Amino acid sequence: MNSKLDETLDNPDWDGMRMLGHRIVDDAVAYLQSVRERAAWQPIPAAVRKGFDEPAPLEPRAPADVYNAVRERILPYPTGNIHPRFWGWVMGTGTLTGAYAELIAATMNANVSGFDDAASAVELQVIGWLRDLLGFPGTSTGLLVSGGSMANLVGLTVARNARAGFDVRREGLGAAPQPLRVYASTQVHNSVKKAVELLGLGRDSLRLVAVGGDYTLALDALEAAIAEDRVRGARPFCVVANCGTVATGALDDLEALASLCEREGLWLHVDGAFGALAALSPELRSRVRGLERADSLAFDLHKWGYVPYEAGCILVRDGHLQREAFAVAADYLAPAGGGVAPRGTFLADQGPQLSRGFRALKVWMALQEHGAHRLGRLVHQNVEQAAYLAERIGAEAELELMAPVPLNVVCFRYRGAAAAQDWDSLNRELLVRLQQSGIAVPSHTLLEGRYALRVAITNHRSRRDDFDLLVSEVLRLGRSLVAQGRTAAAS
Ligand SMILES: Cc1ncc(COP(=O)(O)O)c(C=O)c1O
Repeated sequence: MNSKLDETLDNPDWDGMRMLGHRIVDDAVAYLQSVRERAAWQPIPAAVRKGFDEPAPLEPRAPADVYNAVRERILPYPTGNIHPRFWGWVMGTGTLTGAYAELIAATMNANVSGFDDAASAVELQVIGWLRDLLGFPGTSTGLLVSGGSMANLVGLTVARNARAGFDVRREGLGAAPQPLRVYASTQVHNSVKKAVELLGLGRDSLRLVAVGGDYTLALDALEAAIAEDRVRGARPFCVVANCGTVATGALDDLEALASLCEREGLWLHVDGAFGALAALSPELRSRVRGLERADSLAFDLHKWGYVPYEAGCILVRDGHLQREAFAVAADYLAPAGGGVAPRGTFLADQGPQLSRGFRALKVWMALQEHGAHRLGRLVHQNVEQAAYLAERIGAEAELELMAPVPLNVVCFRYRGAAAAQDWDSLNRELLVRLQQSGIAVPSHTLLEGRYALRVAITNHRSRRDDFDLLVSEVLRLGRSLVAQGRTAAAS
């Protein structure tokens, strides 16, 4: 036989590939074992960066050489969120078992559309577990998605189609007899704004409702906005509640919002990207009470579930509405009455993707390895660390705590000992220096127009002394910036 006709991408040197695999695993273990000893973040040197401009390779290269390039040019420059002192944005830490799960998932290369295979069974089991752990009823369905943004998009698609009052799928939004309205607090995540735009509702259909001093949605302002819209002839159909706002971790009153939505006939979608998993902790569960009354709930596993990227989840209370929003019949996908496609639950009917990766495996393995109780303890530990940091900040006259700390997010800034300064600029500079030092990575936000350093803790590697180091570094950098007269006129 002419072997040219039978070329394959499987490397015939299976022993060599096994050795390479062992080396990769050995390196991965060492990499995570020693992560604390390295900088939380370091910039990519110019020479290395240049390599990313190289043209597409046209000829083969030995796998070991390819891996050597990974070792030299990629592994040393992570985002940093594997490090114990990375608290920027809301990023999860991942685990070694999660990395193993990714290897196994890619080895099986399952296409988790809902065929008769173990991967689909694992995803259905994971959805069932999450549903039970978060108190959703057996009628609910769910789907693992890429993250909170996609979970919000899927949830809001179901909400729109279920509550628009006409057949959106057939007629399109042009047929809407009344403008549709969605409500959320001013603190809502930008992924909800994106979703509203992607759904063709238009940015103006999202009414941003005022918050109180604790950054939670003001119920009276919401009621007034709904009443006003009804008088104007619009059709309110959905409230998006925050279970942990991105800026400060604020928790909207979910019980009150669920009751309000019931009274008003509105869909309640909860964005619980990180906050939802507070329900795993007995100490925190009361803070997210009402979560289980949502019509749809979006949350991430790659944040407070500590599994590697990407993994988010959407749960929909009334499961048939999820299928009604997404299922589209196709001859080539029709159930075959047996074989690979006998058709139980076809997962692709519950979201926008047909081909889907096996992200369920890392969640399944994480829940098996740790159990929900340990995960809940870690979530609680992060919340206690946030309280500890807030206490440390409160005890330092040169630091200012800038918002309440209801969960795991701490906003603060250096405000010096005496004279007025442009504290916004100083803290902006301080943050860049802190990140560049490799010691710690907080991020920032604006609170009522004032610049704040922001620490969001979804990190299972952080220890209390990491927060002591953060406080001492912020004080050191703040003092040195003041001494250098880095800041301009008083703000
Ligand atoms: C409250 C909130 N909602 C949604 C998202 C979006 O989630 P993802 O980044 O997983 O798409 C985030 C991300 O930080 C978030 O904090």
